[in-house]
Amino acid sequence: MASKKVIKLLNEQIANEGDFSQLYLAMAVWAEANGFMGTAKFMFRQAEEERGHMFKFVRFLLEIGEQAEVPAVKEPKASYKDIQEIFEAALKHEQFITASIYKIMSEARESNDYAVTSFLQWFVNEQVEEESNVKQVLDIIRLAGKVSLYLADKEIGAFGAGK
Ligand code: FEO
Repeated sequence: MASKKVIKLLNEQIANEGDFSQLYLAMAVWAEANGFMGTAKFMFRQAEEERGHMFKFVRFLLEIGEQAEVPAVKEPKASYKDIQEIFEAALKHEQFITASIYKIMSEARESNDYAVTSFLQWFVNEQVEEESNVKQVLDIIRLAGKVSLYLADKEIGAFGAGK
């Protein structure tokens, strides 16, 4: 039987994953409205994934005979400067989620709760993949920024070339 503290943390994680799904959805909406269709596609997919994670926590709590609390929907940040800001915010949130998973994991381990640790292992692996994906996108954005500077620099160098 899971401890009260672990149950509380698992319920908090339902809210964390749900909030994150909403945040990704708002990012998708901003991206599509501003013409960044690739980012919108990425974010719509992530919004669904995070909703799936929320459901996994709900299902797990029900399977172990505990109360699953369905949280209120929080209004996410809806406006961004550019896609770099979006992915930087996404990375921060993924890191927050990773830290919250680790917190539940260490509580469950302390109380020798093998069912919860086994359930959480999937999320530990998932977070490694998700953080890595967002970091790779940030690398792409930063490299694209450098290419733009390089192209601008070439243009600048070409000023007055025929004089
Ligand atoms: Fe479910 Fe990537 O946090």
